[in-house]
Amino acid sequence: MKGLFIIGTDTGVGKTWVTGALARALRRRGYDVGVCKPIQSGNLKDDPAGDAMTLRRLADVSDSISDICLCALPQPVAPQLAMRLSNVDIYMEDVVSFCRRASNRHEWLFVEGAGGVAVPYVSDAWVSDVIRALDLPVLIVARPGLGTVNHSILTIEYLRNQDIRVVGVVFNRSSALCTENDTDSRLMVLLEETNASYIRESTGVPVFGALPHISSFTSELDIVNLVEENINLRGLLESLGSVYSGD
Ligand SMILES: Nc1ncnc2c1ncn2[C@@H]1O[C@H](COP(=O)(O)OP(=O)(O)OP(=O)(O)O)[C@@H](O)[C@H]1O
Ligand SMILES: [Mg+2]
Repeated sequence: MKGLFIIGTDTGVGKTWVTGALARALRRRGYDVGVCKPIQSGNLKDDPAGDAMTLRRLADVSDSISDICLCALPQPVAPQLAMRLSNVDIYMEDVVSFCRRASNRHEWLFVEGAGGVAVPYVSDAWVSDVIRALDLPVLIVARPGLGTVNHSILTIEYLRNQDIRVVGVVFNRSSALCTENDTDSRLMVLLEETNASYIRESTGVPVFGALPHISSFTSELDIVNLVEENINLRGLLESLGSVYSGD
C-alpha cells in the first residue's frame, strides 16, 4: 500500500480539508490519489457535512461512500467510545483490509485518522497501532501559533518511538486570528514563521507550508487553491518518493 496517513496535533485542525485538497491538487497533476476515512464519528456516512463526504467532494473521486468510509457512528466522541455506545465492534484487522481494498483502486491512498495520534480508535487498537499495521508514513496537520512547536514535536517523537515514519507537517489556520490589535497579529505571523524552523531544527521534519484562514468562502474549492498556492507539493512528493524508494 502506497500513501499517507494524515493525523492532526488535535481534533478540528483541518485534516479533512488538507487531505481532500492535497489529493485534489495531486490528482490535477496526474497522480491517482484515493482518499478514505475508515472510522468516522459524529456524522453518518452520507451526511454531506461529514468527513467522508467532504473528502469525496474535495478530492473529486468517484468511489462510493462505503468505499471511503468503513464505519460511521452518530456520537461525536473518540471512535472507540462511539463504537461502545453504539454496540459496534470494529477491529484493526477490519480497517487494514478496508484500506487494502481502497488502495487496490488507486495508486496512492490518503487515509484520514481521527483527532491526533494518541487516540483510542477501534475496539482493539489506537490510531498509532493502525498506522503501524498499515505501514503508511504520516503527514501531520497543525494549527500555527502558540503551542504549535510543542504539539508538533510531541507528536513527531511519539510516532518515531513507535517506528512510524513522519513525512512532514502542514500548518492550517482553521480558526481566525484571535487578536485585538496589529502588534498581536504581527507577533502571530512571526510565531508562524519561527515555528517551522524550530520543528525542522529539532526533528529534521519539514513543514511544507501554511494555509491561511479563509474568512469568507466562494466555494469549497478555495481550500484547494490555497494548497496550490501555499504548499510545497514538490517537497511532499519528494519526501514520499524517498519513503517508497527506501532511502
Ligand atoms: N484554512 C481554513 N480557513 C477557514 N476555515 C477552515 C480552514 N481549515 C479548516 N477550516 C474549518 O475548520 C473546521 C475543521 O476542519 P476539518 O474538518 O478539516 O478538521 P479535522 O481536523 O478534519 O477535524 P476532525 O478532527 O473533526 O476530523 C471545518 O469546519 C472547516 O470549515
Ligand atoms: Mg476530519
